Amino acid sequence: MSHALTFEWADGRTARVDARPDETVVEAAERESVALPFGCLTGACATCTARLLDGHVAYRRPPRGLKPDQREAGYVLACVAEPRSDCRLRVGVDVHRELVDNPWK
Ligand code: FES
Repeated sequence: MSHALTFEWADGRTARVDARPDETVVEAAERESVALPFGCLTGACATCTARLLDGHVAYRRPPRGLKPDQREAGYVLACVAEPRSDCRLRVGVDVHRELVDNPWK
């Protein structure tokens, strides 16, 4: 069964895609040509971090890039998260910026 994913960006843009069974959030977005940030695609770098506003996901691989308190706060790694229900997610680089202090600034 597929699940509807609604993406929300900080600038007010939104997009909707359908995720097929066993497809991750990033895979569904890429298939539908919706650009989300990602890097390693293995759950390690956290570049793909999104905030789950509604719905449930299950992890294909351990989300090593997130600390337990970040997961509890609703952050998810979109590259390894498979939707288990319709989901609404806040996406974009702003979400990642909330998690880490940029050492280059
Ligand atoms: S792209 Fe690296 S954790 Fe998702």
